[in-house]
Amino acid sequence: MLIDYRSDTVTRPTAAMMEAMMAAKVGDDVFGEDPSINELESLAANMFGMEAAIFCPSGTMTNQIAIKCHTQPGDEVICDDNAHVYMYEGGGIAFNSGASVKLLAGDRGRIIAEQVKNSINPDDSHRAHTSLVCLENTSNRGGGSCYDFNEIKQIEKVCRENNLKLHLDGARLFNALVEKNEKPQQYGETFDSISICLSKSLGCPVGSLLLGKKGLIKKARRVRKVFGGGMRQAGFLAAAGTYALKNNIERLKIDHRHARLISEAIAKKDFVKMVLPVETNIIIFELDNSITAPALVNKLKEKNILGYAIAPNRVRLVIHLDITEDMVNKTIDIFKQL
Ligand SMILES: Cc1ncc(COP(=O)(O)O)c(C=O)c1O
Repeated sequence: MLIDYRSDTVTRPTAAMMEAMMAAKVGDDVFGEDPSINELESLAANMFGMEAAIFCPSGTMTNQIAIKCHTQPGDEVICDDNAHVYMYEGGGIAFNSGASVKLLAGDRGRIIAEQVKNSINPDDSHRAHTSLVCLENTSNRGGGSCYDFNEIKQIEKVCRENNLKLHLDGARLFNALVEKNEKPQQYGETFDSISICLSKSLGCPVGSLLLGKKGLIKKARRVRKVFGGGMRQAGFLAAAGTYALKNNIERLKIDHRHARLISEAIAKKDFVKMVLPVETNIIIFELDNSITAPALVNKLKEKNILGYAIAPNRVRLVIHLDITEDMVNKTIDIFKQL
C-alpha cells in the first residue's frame, strides 16, 4: 500500500465522479457552447454570490489571468513572501504582466492590513504604481493556515481607500470555509476576484475557476485565450467540478482530523524540532540536525510513505480524499517506529 502525502493534487476521480464525467453533455467552450462548463461556472458564481466565473486548466492560470486583468505593466503587486503567486508560478507576475512585487513577511503566509497600508507606494513618478493585493487562503507554505476573516475585512478597507484591487488565491479556500465555519458569500462580497482549485482537496483530475464581476470575467476570457487556455469539449472535466462542489466539500473535515492525528504522532519524535500548527489538511514540520528533510523523505519512502522536502530541514505532508483511516493508522505506527 503506497501512501501518498506529496500533495492533495494526487487524487484520482472516484467511481461516482467518473460516472458524472462520462454522462456530461459537451460542446465547444471557446464558442461558449459547452453546457457542462456553463453549468459549473454559474454554480460556482452563485455559490459565492459573484456575477460570473471562468473555467481554466489550472490554479496558476486563474491566478495569473487575475493579475493580468488587474494590473498594467510597471505596476506593483503586494503579497506575502511565501505566496504561491510569487514563489511557485515561474515568475509569472513579471513574465505575463510585467509587474513588480512587494513581498511582505507575514505570519505563516498571512499578512495584515497595517503591513499592506505601509507598503503602498506614494503617488510619485519615481515609484511603481501599486495596484493589487493578493492573499492566499489557506496558505500552502504556511502549513494550511487560515486567515482571520476580520483581518481580511481590514485589508479590504485599506484596498478600497487606496484604490487597489484585491485578489484571493483560494486554491484551498474550501478547507478554510469548513474549518472556520465561513460562507463563500462572505468572500464573494469582499474580493474583486477569487481563484478556486477543483483539482486539489476537492478530488477533481483537472480544473480551477476564476470568479469576479461580469466585466472582469469577459476580460479574463480574452486573456485565457492568449495564454492558450481556451479548451474545447472540456465539459467532461467541468462535470467532475460540479460533482465535487456538490459532494466533496463537507468531507474536508475528515482530512483535517486525519492531519491532526498524524501531526500528534510526528510531534512526539525526538528528531522533530517543531510542527507548524495544523489548521487544515497540511502538515509542515521542521527537523533537528540529526536528519535532513530529503533523508527523512527517503526513509519514509522505503516504508511506502511519500512526502515532500520543502526545505533542507522541512517536510510537508498533505492529507486528501484518497487517504483512508487505515492509511492514517499505518502512518502513525510507522512514525512511532522511526
Ligand atoms: C496556494 C496555491 N495556489 C495556486 C496553486 C496552483 O495550482 P495549479 O497546480 O493548478 O496550477 C497551488 C498548487 O499547488 C497552490 O498550492
